Amino acid sequence: MPELFKESFKKYKSKCPPPDFSEVINFGSKSSSQIEGVKNGKIVNPVHLCGLQPVSQWKISEIENNPGMIHVVNPFTDVGHRYWVCRALSSYTQRPESKLSLDGIGDLQEDEDWWELCTRDAFRAKHLQPGLRWATMGYHHNWNTKIYSEEERDAFPGDLAALSQCIANAVGYSDFCAEAAIVNFYHKNSALAGHTDHSERNLEAPLLSFSFGCSAVFLIGGKTLETKPTAMFLHSGDLVIMAGESRLCYHSVPKILPTSENLSEEVPCCSPCKDCCCILDADLFTKCSDNEFWEPFKKYIEKSRINLNVRQVLYPGETKLISET
Ligand code: OGA
Ligand code: MN
Repeated sequence: MPELFKESFKKYKSKCPPPDFSEVINFGSKSSSQIEGVKNGKIVNPVHLCGLQPVSQWKISEIENNPGMIHVVNPFTDVGHRYWVCRALSSYTQRPESKLSLDGIGDLQEDEDWWELCTRDAFRAKHLQPGLRWATMGYHHNWNTKIYSEEERDAFPGDLAALSQCIANAVGYSDFCAEAAIVNFYHKNSALAGHTDHSERNLEAPLLSFSFGCSAVFLIGGKTLETKPTAMFLHSGDLVIMAGESRLCYHSVPKILPTSENLSEEVPCCSPCKDCCCILDADLFTKCSDNEFWEPFKKYIEKSRINLNVRQVLYPGETKLISET
């Protein structure tokens, strides 16, 4: 059987000849029902929290060939969008709660703060900024064994857990609990090869994937590499939920595009709503509408892409992994 997944990956990764994007679904461009093979998704429960727009404003789609996968066009408010970018760069990269990829940022000392250095020391930022490829939180993803363990677990950020729970609940997964996340940082020539995510004990819970910054081409196929994947653009703020059958399907990111969409120039100053102010970092939320404060974050996402990949590990009611030994 031809490995159609890999053929698509190569096609979109190619620099020469440049890929033909005519088959890549662009959800924001038209109403879902006008795109072939795409239908409108359903909202089960309302939300308007955590920097999100009210669900009545969400543009939510499902793909006929990829049951269980849900795409939401940027559901964030302008200030909410900024808030999550700021959190990813300046908070979710803080050690020791987060573990960071150290490739190329070997000169970052244990007690140094990656984002603080990137913004303060232009000389070191040259290497440090592109050097960071991922951060892990909660149950830390083990890149070698792909096995989670209680020994490699830290507290999961409360705001991201609340955001994830809120969204999962909106699409009908009422008992979602965020327990592990990978923050992926992609630069101009980065790609993520085809893979499935199956390290979690609970594979019935959905996986939530948030995109910020540069747009990307995302491929989602079937449970084997033989299925031809669907290609779609992921723009800044977009959300992909891999639930049901799609939870264990092959997916990849063959291409990062040079531009970011959905970035607003001016954001009205506001504070988080009453229900959110104890969940979100209220001070940061207020600061992010200030363009001067926002500037270094904006610069970063104009050239790079951030993916927040959030997973549940345990079954509802469980509090830890029982080790085999
Ligand atoms: C992952 C992943 C997809 C993306 O981290 O496992 O599939 O959009 N990320 O970056
Ligand atoms: Mn994945």
